[in-house]
Amino acid sequence: MSLKLKNAKRIEGLDSNMWVEFTKLAADPSVVNLGQGLPDISPPIYVKEELSKIAAIDGMNQYTRGFGHPSLVTALSCLYEKFYPNKIDANKEILVTVGAYGSLFSAIQGLIDEGDEVIIIMPFYDCYEPMVRMAGATPVFIPLRSKPVPGRQWSSSDWTLDPQELASKFSSKTKAIILNTPHNPTGKVYTKEELQVIADLCIKHDTLCISDEVYEWLVYTGNKHVKIATFPGMWERTITIGSAGKTFSVTGWKIGWSIGPSYLIKHLQTVQQNTLYTCATPLQEALAQAFWIDIKRMGDPECYFNSLPKELEAKRDRMVRLLGSVGLRPIVPDGGYFIIADVSLLGFCLTQVSAFSGFIFIRIAYISMNKKLSAIPVSAFCNSEAKLQFEKFVRFCFIKKDSTLDAAEEIIKAWKNQKP
Ligand SMILES: Cc1ncc(COP(=O)(O)O)c(C=O)c1O
Repeated sequence: MSLKLKNAKRIEGLDSNMWVEFTKLAADPSVVNLGQGLPDISPPIYVKEELSKIAAIDGMNQYTRGFGHPSLVTALSCLYEKFYPNKIDANKEILVTVGAYGSLFSAIQGLIDEGDEVIIIMPFYDCYEPMVRMAGATPVFIPLRSKPVPGRQWSSSDWTLDPQELASKFSSKTKAIILNTPHNPTGKVYTKEELQVIADLCIKHDTLCISDEVYEWLVYTGNKHVKIATFPGMWERTITIGSAGKTFSVTGWKIGWSIGPSYLIKHLQTVQQNTLYTCATPLQEALAQAFWIDIKRMGDPECYFNSLPKELEAKRDRMVRLLGSVGLRPIVPDGGYFIIADVSLLGFCLTQVSAFSGFIFIRIAYISMNKKLSAIPVSAFCNSEAKLQFEKFVRFCFIKKDSTLDAAEEIIKAWKNQKP
């Protein structure tokens, strides 16, 4: 093939993507989909109503301010000021993006250079690694480690970073660490003490922190979401990322945001103004209105930031009971809407194939096609060397209607009698 028809070097080796393979498999209507993190519960009625009202206003169907629709950045600054010790400048310290993906992309493109190193904690949301590589930087991986604790439920809080191992990953080349709390896929909610270890290392090594907090509202009884940007010395070096899709159960809206000091956010703005320019106006206006409704009732149980985690905690508990009852070892998540479980006890010794896309394809196909239930192997959230370490875990998404969970329950209970 002519060299001119070849791909650009920056995307070399990044062509396989789990979600592309997965979506094809999950399209079979007879498959119960607990794979992709996609709610099938209804989003709040007022969120949908706001969008239909706004779509009827002519001016709301045209381009808006590139870095974020004025009413949305105002609502976001008002909301987040409740959690930060500092004021947040709506125009200079917030960037609205196409989903949290857009924020991760502009942060990594705008701040990471060729030759830099970026620390990524495994398992990790799968786009972190290719985004870092596309920027010409080198990902440096560190795993969360855990063993089941005899005599009690295995919890996401049992999965921890070894502070010494973490310290050994920092060097003069480290430009950033990517943190994700509450964590996908384990459901781990980092404690204040754990975040302090990361913050101390960031400050010591003058490192940025890209903090992916898309599940910030989804924390369960006994846990608290803490923002690393609120630690002394961290606002100055942190980009905090949120998602409307996760906040209001509207993943199809693909609106996200980055918050941080203006001298960092301006580089993300430069990326956005030269790539996408702006995000959808009616969606941003509808979100702003939805935020105002919930900002005004933040202490009330019916505020969506309180009612959704309550609803999900019951679904989480149901999944824990179900997976446990068939002999799988679930890891009880403290946050987010995924649960991972050790499926090795059911004899799921899955084919090991070295090719990245082949590996993922075979493992997803196994569960989807043979068992009619789609789930994601946790090895899909690891780099190639660590895949085996997470080989026996599978991730299930539980932000699903009761009828979907009923159907999943029927299939999971039948597994017990159909060991491969
Ligand atoms: C940890 C994490 N970060 C980012 C995203 C992407 O969010 P968005 O749909 O807003 O782009 C997801 C989506 O599942 C996620 O789980």
